[in-house]
Amino acid sequence: MTDQPQPPEGEIPGKPTSASRTTLSHIMTGNDTNLLGTVHGGVIMKLVDDAAGAVAGRHSGGPAVTASMDEMVFLEPVRVGDLVHVRAQVNWTGRSSMEVGVRVMAERWNESTPAQQVGSAYLVFAAVDEDGKPRRVPQVVPETERDKRRYQEAQIRRTHRLARRRAIKELREQRAAEGIDD
Ligand SMILES: CC(C)(COP(=O)(O)OP(=O)(O)OC[C@H]1O[C@@H](n2cnc3c(N)ncnc32)[C@H](O)[C@@H]1OP(=O)(O)O)[C@@H](O)C(=O)NCCC(=O)NCCS
Repeated sequence: MTDQPQPPEGEIPGKPTSASRTTLSHIMTGNDTNLLGTVHGGVIMKLVDDAAGAVAGRHSGGPAVTASMDEMVFLEPVRVGDLVHVRAQVNWTGRSSMEVGVRVMAERWNESTPAQQVGSAYLVFAAVDEDGKPRRVPQVVPETERDKRRYQEAQIRRTHRLARRRAIKELREQRAAEGIDD
């Protein structure tokens, strides 16, 4: 027995943010470049999805699939030789979905300066069972003030995502009802 409050029977115990937070590090090579000679945005997006997927799997204790990726921002170019660190953590959890926040940092291969932020993104993962159907996830328990702020901000993004999806669905249904075929 522990002194921690236990969840009601049938509920999954919550997990602290730090239990699944992770960093993926990767050195950029000549295979990763675009025509300008800097690193292709898609290469960074793959690393972001990989790191976020690892976090979602660790938090939910099983398979999780990317449902959406939004607000992917590229702040600075990444170059061949740079050591890129992709830091990810669960910001928020719903019933079966998790928002994962990702920060991309680069250490320049030829400068002894601190790692610089070069990008960020928010991804929603859905935890799924062996049939690919959504399954319940443990609630994330924010630990620090920064975790709590990220949780609150993720809730705002969740509200906007749902509202946008609903509005677009309604518009399409309305156009279909009017017989507009596009
Ligand atoms: C993501 C997926 C499992 C959702 O399945 P679904 O039948 O629509 O199930 P639901 O509507 O119950 O959604 C499950 C959860 O995901 C969330 N979700 C689904 N689509 C979402 C989207 N586009 N953006 C944000 N959240 C989304 C829902 O809000 C819900 O969250 P909650 O349980 O915490 O409230 C399903 O669409 C899927 O398998 N997509 C393909 C995923 C994939 O293969 N990714 C890799 C790309 S190659």
